[in-house]
Amino acid sequence: MAKGFDSSPCRPQDLGRFEIHQRDGIARIGRLHTNHGALQTPMLLPVVNPNIRTIEPREMWEKFGVQGVITNSYVIWKHDKLREPALASGVHDLLDFPGVIVTDSGTFQSYVYGDVEVGVEQIVDFQRDIGVDIGTMLDVFGRPDQTEEELQHAVDETVARASVSLETAGENLLLNGPIQGGLHSHLRVESASKMGAAEGPHRGFAVHPIGGIVPLMEKHRYLDLVKIILATRETIPLERPIHLFGCGHPMLFPMCIALGVDLFDSAAYALFARDGRLLTPDGTVRIDDLEEWPIASHTLRDITPDEVRNMEKNERTDLLARFNLEITQAELARCRQAIRTGTLWSLVEQRSNSSEELREAFTHIRDVIWGGSLLETMDDFNIVGKQMIEASYVIRSGSVKWSEHARYRPSLINARELIDNRWRPPPFDWTGKPMNNPSMLLIEGQAPPWRDSLRGDVIRALRLNPQCIPIIVMKAGFLPFDLEDWSPLCHIQSVSPFSTGMSSGLMYGARAETLDVEEGCIVRRGGSKVPLNDASSEATSSNEDDDAIRKWLERSQISAKCSVFLGMDNVNTWEWLEGMTVQRSSTGRIKNVFDADGKHVLSPRLNDGGLSLTTRGAIALHALDAGLPEVISIDDAVPFLRAGRNVMHGFIAGTRNDVRIGLPALIVDSSGDLVAHGIPTSTAEEMGRFRKGIAVRVRGGIASSLKIAGTVGFEMNEEQ
Ligand code: GUN
Repeated sequence: MAKGFDSSPCRPQDLGRFEIHQRDGIARIGRLHTNHGALQTPMLLPVVNPNIRTIEPREMWEKFGVQGVITNSYVIWKHDKLREPALASGVHDLLDFPGVIVTDSGTFQSYVYGDVEVGVEQIVDFQRDIGVDIGTMLDVFGRPDQTEEELQHAVDETVARASVSLETAGENLLLNGPIQGGLHSHLRVESASKMGAAEGPHRGFAVHPIGGIVPLMEKHRYLDLVKIILATRETIPLERPIHLFGCGHPMLFPMCIALGVDLFDSAAYALFARDGRLLTPDGTVRIDDLEEWPIASHTLRDITPDEVRNMEKNERTDLLARFNLEITQAELARCRQAIRTGTLWSLVEQRSNSSEELREAFTHIRDVIWGGSLLETMDDFNIVGKQMIEASYVIRSGSVKWSEHARYRPSLINARELIDNRWRPPPFDWTGKPMNNPSMLLIEGQAPPWRDSLRGDVIRALRLNPQCIPIIVMKAGFLPFDLEDWSPLCHIQSVSPFSTGMSSGLMYGARAETLDVEEGCIVRRGGSKVPLNDASSEATSSNEDDDAIRKWLERSQISAKCSVFLGMDNVNTWEWLEGMTVQRSSTGRIKNVFDADGKHVLSPRLNDGGLSLTTRGAIALHALDAGLPEVISIDDAVPFLRAGRNVMHGFIAGTRNDVRIGLPALIVDSSGDLVAHGIPTSTAEEMGRFRKGIAVRVRGGIASSLKIAGTVGFEMNEEQ
């Protein structure tokens, strides 16, 4: 059996629903609920030709961990020797496969051979009757070389067939609703929007495959492929899996998955094997060119390339097909693991070196993401760029592998945008004067942890000029010293601003270019330099001043985190923190913050520099209407949330303020009363669309009778 895969039917109400379990930006590890188990995505459906089974589906299930396969219902329908047993005992028996069976409809045959003899309703009827899990309607294949009129026809005709296909499918057959439109982005956008909106008596389409791309794959036109995925994503319903029809080369997985593709299917494992070609994550290699295997595998562990070359053709094909399937599965596992560890983008960067065509496609994605971050020049394409940025976690423990492209990574752009948009200097300096003449103090060339390498210099500089704002110049941009332990930014080496190549120097109205910066110095606006170890400044120091500066720095640090991570206004936050007290770790770092009434309200996290809100903190900030993001629950779910259960998709009435993945949010009922607080795992847009899975991980529920005094209910429960 596929390891850990349960092929029993889902609950009837979950049939066809997709849920996200983990994510890295818009790349997601999800589950699609079917009558033969919940398909874990991203995954590849190996193509099974019911007439020539290079690897038996049963072996795929038992030895290769394949949870689902795709076969062709038109081929089964056409051949009596297949059709009769399929109708008599079902397609799972015919293929001897216990997992999820997806079928195609004959559209691809019509593209290869001309017309097919089957009708629109007839082929859906047949797929339903043989017990397919996810069938495909008879769409019209749009080739990339067709005219715009022809492609418009393919889109229109496919859309026209959608309702009747959904109606014919009935209650139990899930359907693929393919997106056509060739190379015309506006047609892909139109197709995705209309197919996404199509409704049947039971549901709409369960999955949206992107069709008509096989001719592009054959010619390695990956830039075109990426443009098609981006255009389709603009209007496709976010809560449905996206399938790339006929794409299955492992080299393409990281990039496509990073763009939100969930399913692949391909016969490449068998077709390439027949030609003596091996699939690897970096490209294809011919067995004829090999003295040693380019990649370790279980399949070819005990045999040499020479021995395989000398095998009888069928035996060789069988062996290489197994190798190809093993490598395909391994690369998908690697991508899923990269999603879990938040390192998918670094894998995409790495894989983009595999070929010139991939590099070209990658450069385009990079530009789209970068464009998505330039709000003032937002065009249509940047919708997806912006989605990629906003869907990425900004706080992650662990280091960042730096590369020449790393500054374009969505999570780093997201962090930079949060700093640009939310961070402001404290309203008062450490002497208590209003901060009306702040000057930016750029600090360069020091290694993290900056609290150790810079604190003394920062204190000296503040002593000389209380209105200077210490800013660390990192490879990824500017980082206020207040946020110096923000992971992963604190794992990036600080560099000279002249080598950052940053255009975004705008912060609280002061531009970086107006500052003088010199190697080894802290430099103030106006050109008066403060050498880092200037002995003369020591002479003016006093212990009381230093204590005041230290206290001010701590308050400034908590305030900055409230602004950037909780979306609070800096002036109100400063006031709220008046009279705060703190508790420290053994190394002297603040680990708990207590408000003026002695209530534990916040906990700065020492491992990743984030900020956790306590339930008392949530109550206090809700009472202050401090601008925190809010998720509005439907009232039926409120008792569960008050008891500490998670906010589930399908139970959300709306959102308020700027809800961000991974950053704290308040959860309120329809009248605005606070019921819980937690960490969103979905974007606000996704909260409006998904019907299954966790939307907010609740950290504390607020019992109604105690909502004024506040209480903590930390019971975590995912069941509802
Ligand atoms: N297989 C490969 N491409 C396509 C497509 O566009 N439509 C269908 N139905 N199957 C395909």
